[in-house]
Amino acid sequence: MTTIRVVLAGLGNVGRGVLSILISQRDLLAARYGLEVLVVGASDSSGAALDPAGLDLGRLLALKSERGKVAEFPGGLPGLGGRHLIERARGDLLLEATPVNLQHGQPGLDTVRAALDHGMGCVLANKGPLALAYGELAAVSDLSDVDRPRLRFSACVGGALPTINLGRRDLAGARILGVEAMLNGTSQGILRAMEQGQGFAEALAEMQRRGIAETDPTLDVDGWDQAVKLVILANAVLGRPTVLGDLRVRGIREITRDDLAAAAARGERIVHLGRAERPAPTADWVLDVGPVSLPAAHPLARMGALEMGVIYRTDISGTLHATSEEGDAVPTAAAMLRDLIEISR
Ligand SMILES: NC(=O)c1ccc[n+]([C@@H]2O[C@H](COP(=O)([O-])OP(=O)(O)OC[C@H]3O[C@@H](n4cnc5c(N)ncnc54)[C@H](OP(=O)(O)O)[C@@H]3O)[C@@H](O)[C@H]2O)c1
Repeated sequence: MTTIRVVLAGLGNVGRGVLSILISQRDLLAARYGLEVLVVGASDSSGAALDPAGLDLGRLLALKSERGKVAEFPGGLPGLGGRHLIERARGDLLLEATPVNLQHGQPGLDTVRAALDHGMGCVLANKGPLALAYGELAAVSDLSDVDRPRLRFSACVGGALPTINLGRRDLAGARILGVEAMLNGTSQGILRAMEQGQGFAEALAEMQRRGIAETDPTLDVDGWDQAVKLVILANAVLGRPTVLGDLRVRGIREITRDDLAAAAARGERIVHLGRAERPAPTADWVLDVGPVSLPAAHPLARMGALEMGVIYRTDISGTLHATSEEGDAVPTAAAMLRDLIEISR
């Protein structure tokens, strides 16, 4: 049995999902992979709790489900976070699920830097550090080596939808000619609910209730969440060093129920798309995010309210479509678990 000692930063929708699947999949991980996962440190906005023998996950999940604070947990240390958390917890792997910050990337960026400095593996659900410092983090991890990963972030680009794995691993040998994606569950849910007659605010509240919306939902509806995902995809899959400023970004606030009805009358559907296209085979990529009216038969127009999807057009692998249906944050936690398993191997 291999024991992997995990530090879990962030105990919100995703962090609680991680705790619940570490409990529900414990026997499967042992039987299938010979893997035991101990959470030796966990943090939220109040501080952290540490236990080298492994925190009691059921008790921690119960505390956070009742909106308790981890600093009040046995072994709790108010204010402990970031680099100090990494130094004190002595784990093998960081699971990072704190909120996205696109101005300074904190607290995630410093925690990830510290973990990589300490030789730990890192699995991110938080896109902020990659949006602001992809090149730096790739350089200090062995990101170019697909077979010996130390930094993984498949949860950042569509939750359980294997957007990054498809592009990096399964299209090996192919040239990617274009990408279309709908990778923001909140804007998809809102547009599809508005088609059914709901108002924007009501539809957003439902995505917040499901735990799918960002902590700051303006990131979803103004397009920045999709933009960050496209930045990560461009860097990790297309090999184009890309920052947010390279993209044209539009959100869905301007879309009205009348616009959606007019699209339907034309046999179309408005989808909040991220696109990477090249005007010519050797030209630079053009990257943009915004609402696009697609023919109703287009694979990304056919998707339901809880679906996300990606299409890769390639030279030799044909056109690959993948979609996932995710009703809450648990599939994102599952994507973190798949990265954990990959790193632990
Ligand atoms: N939700 C999804 O479906 C989904 C999907 C893909 C990726 N993600 C990404 O996953 C991350 C977490 O999302 P979420 O939905 O779980 O967010 P969330 O519910 O808002 O939870 C955020 C967690 O981070 C903690 N936190 C906030 N500020 C902190 C700080 N300064 N230091 C330490 N901890 C802090 C919060 O503490 P408290 O508990 O004390 O408030 C909470 O435990 C985000 O980066 C998001 O983009 C989410």
